[in-house]
Amino acid sequence: MECERGQTKWQFRQKSSFTAGNLAVRAVVNKVMENVDNSNGKPIIALGNGDPSKFSCFRISERAEDAIVSAVRSAKYNGYAFSAGMPCARSAIAEYLNKDLPYKLSPDDVYATIGCSQAIEILLSVLARPGANILLPRPGYPYYEARAALSKLEVRHFNLVPERGWEVDLDNVYALADENTVAMVIINPGNPCGNVLSYPHLKKVR
Ligand SMILES: Cc1ncc(COP(=O)(O)O)c(C=O)c1O
Repeated sequence: MECERGQTKWQFRQKSSFTAGNLAVRAVVNKVMENVDNSNGKPIIALGNGDPSKFSCFRISERAEDAIVSAVRSAKYNGYAFSAGMPCARSAIAEYLNKDLPYKLSPDDVYATIGCSQAIEILLSVLARPGANILLPRPGYPYYEARAALSKLEVRHFNLVPERGWEVDLDNVYALADENTVAMVIINPGNPCGNVLSYPHLKKVR
């Protein structure tokens, strides 16, 4: 704040290069695709497709669409929801996940977020404490490193092994983990490699 002739002048300034649109990784992918030279007639495979809705096989079921429409039309859910998710949604999620789990989740174990970024925000803030470290996959999704730095969590990278379908290098994990390790991040299906870890391998990780 600066005072000029007895008046208060705010110092907010627009930073032209800083907009929500050009911060997204999608903006970088689009820029790369715009600059690809396709004059030699070779087919171009876009490896930056992150949106499944572009493919008809990923269309959600009519039942799910109808449920969304009827929830909107009912006007029962227009208010301010619980920040951890609506109780009925959390019960439904717990019930669904319980089909495949060797233990039982209660609705209180479920925290619904508006996407992975919010989940990362919440989890890393909760896990951070002085001296703590977190194990992240390499290669991985960069937001985890950025958010860990914000919470002053030490990051330790474990390798994914390309020759074994990007499985976790378990020896590497054993070597890195210690009593201050608060979590290990498994991205499955993997980003950026797109691999899916097998159940036997996931059991070993657990
Ligand atoms: C591993 C991983 N974490 C987090 C995110 C961010 O997710 P969201 O866009 O739902 O916030 C993504 C998005 O692709 C992701 O692949």
